[in-house]
Amino acid sequence: MTTAAPVRIAFDHVSVEFASARGTMRVVDDVTYDIRDGEFVSIIGPSGCGKTTMMNIVAGFVQPTSGSVLLDGAPIKGPGPDRGVMFQEYGVFPWLSVRDNIAFGLKLAANRTPEAARDEIVNRYMRLMGLADFADAWPKTLSGGMRQRLALARAYAVRPQFLLMDEPFGALDAQTRSAMQDLLLEVLAAEGKTVMLITHSVEEAIYLSSRIIVMSARPTRVREIIDVPFPYPRQEALHETREFNELRSHVRELVMLEYAAQARQTTPAAPRAADDIGRIRRGKPPGGAS
Ligand SMILES: Nc1ncnc2c1ncn2[C@@H]1O[C@H](COP(=O)(O)OP(=O)(O)O)[C@@H](O)[C@H]1O
Ligand SMILES: [Mg+2]
Repeated sequence: MTTAAPVRIAFDHVSVEFASARGTMRVVDDVTYDIRDGEFVSIIGPSGCGKTTMMNIVAGFVQPTSGSVLLDGAPIKGPGPDRGVMFQEYGVFPWLSVRDNIAFGLKLAANRTPEAARDEIVNRYMRLMGLADFADAWPKTLSGGMRQRLALARAYAVRPQFLLMDEPFGALDAQTRSAMQDLLLEVLAAEGKTVMLITHSVEEAIYLSSRIIVMSARPTRVREIIDVPFPYPRQEALHETREFNELRSHVRELVMLEYAAQARQTTPAAPRAADDIGRIRRGKPPGGAS
């Protein structure tokens, strides 16, 4: 990654407001940042601050109230096959088998892949994700973690230029999560994508990203943008280094402050946020099972 790489995604003074029962609620507040070609940018910030809303703009589902988000210099008109989205709630189609879920994107006109090549890609991702024995299973018969791996397989299989991932590893146990992180790094090394990842895990953000954007409590603003100085390829052992731990302390402190600010602001959510801070202090991701 050099800073000379072209800007692919540009947030320029972006604000988003939603109508609520008590009037207009500002969720995103004057946010400006760029994501350059080949970068891996993680977004971290308190629950409910507006992270998914920002990703929804890039995905083409939400329009900013003011400011602009440009994709390769042009306004975003709607969703497109250049952006592979992995949102928990849109992850898999319940009416398709595991195999057909993965093949789905490859059958769409924009990604049309000849049948033989398609079978090869589908089989490859079923193998990588540990789903080969479940090719004909329905999603509802899978565990939450398996459904999440299926959603990952779907997103990777179409080889989009951009990967937009909203807490993609949240429902996975620690071992699988770590394996999925390494697999993602392998896919990126082989296919060179630009990634925007939302995560609650400071460790995950540092391990995977070239930059981390720490967002404030709602209405969310950019609190700090952190360059992650570790070269790729990265290995597990990075977690044990002093540099990693120093960076982790710094990011964790920032995130904790914003969790506390969000907790003070939204009384009903306070117990959850306080709980999250406790979890972060103990080195666990906030939110528990999702
Ligand atoms: N379409 C919508 N209409 C109204 N309010 C929304 C909509 N989408 C999100 N919100 C609200 O905006 C706030 C931020 O949501 P979100 O972006 O999902 O937060 P995060 O992903 O950081 O947890 C929340 O209070 C949420 O309820
Ligand atoms: Mg969210």
